[in-house]
Amino acid sequence: MDLDAFTLFERHINPGLAGLLRFTGLDRVESHAEGPYVWDTQGKRYLDFLGLYGTLNLGHRHPKVVEAVKRQLDRMPMSVRVLVSEPTARLAAKLAEITPEGLEMVFFGNSGAEAVEAAIKLARAYTGKPGIVTTQGGFHGKTMGALSLTPKPEYQDPARPLLPGVKVVPYGDLEALEAAIDEETAAVIVEPVQGEGGIRVPPEGYLRGVRELTREKGVLMIADEVQTGLGRTGRLFGVDWEGVSPDLMTLAKALGAG
Ligand SMILES: Cc1ncc(COP(=O)(O)O)c(C=O)c1O
Repeated sequence: MDLDAFTLFERHINPGLAGLLRFTGLDRVESHAEGPYVWDTQGKRYLDFLGLYGTLNLGHRHPKVVEAVKRQLDRMPMSVRVLVSEPTARLAAKLAEITPEGLEMVFFGNSGAEAVEAAIKLARAYTGKPGIVTTQGGFHGKTMGALSLTPKPEYQDPARPLLPGVKVVPYGDLEALEAAIDEETAAVIVEPVQGEGGIRVPPEGYLRGVRELTREKGVLMIADEVQTGLGRTGRLFGVDWEGVSPDLMTLAKALGAG
């Protein structure tokens, strides 16, 4: 029997979400997309306000992105790794050029969570210390390390035990942050605006305060720009609003344009 895609999704991927979609009348199958619009297989058009949580900053299928991807697929889909990839090297140089001063080196991964994993490991390797301070309401991904920095019981509890050495402080509270940093702290991770936490904008001066505090205490500042980066807040990076240069910056989503 040839089952429709919605039924296959419900049976083999996520019955809970399928139930919710049915309840909200969105038990439809997507067909194609263009700019801000998505069409389902029955020809209904939707205005996409979600933008894949900050991934589609250029909209769906921006012609320049499609053209560049097609060109590379025709030429060489994957780098062989034992030779240097020109697009990768040029992208790294472009990122060094456009990110805040001092960010010169790039590590490429496949997702936001993977960028956060890399930031945790780099911070630990550089400082020789294990501790990371994160914020209430923060979201940094769902792989084990990133999940450990995402203090949400629904996500964390089924996966315990988590990474040790993580402290959680209220977002926007510099005093609590100062009290949480100790001699075991490698880094503080913070979103310039909390995305999944509810589009929470911190009090003015917070990011600058985090920068000053971390510098004073000799710990690293990780700006998680996975959602705020690449123009999402109206500046190229969320930290640009306060002229802050973090030690590590995580990017994903809009960097790949989907
Ligand atoms: C701030 C932030 N960090 C990390 C992530 C994880 O990114 P990914 O879903 O690509 O693993 C997200 C995803 O929403 C995010 O918003």
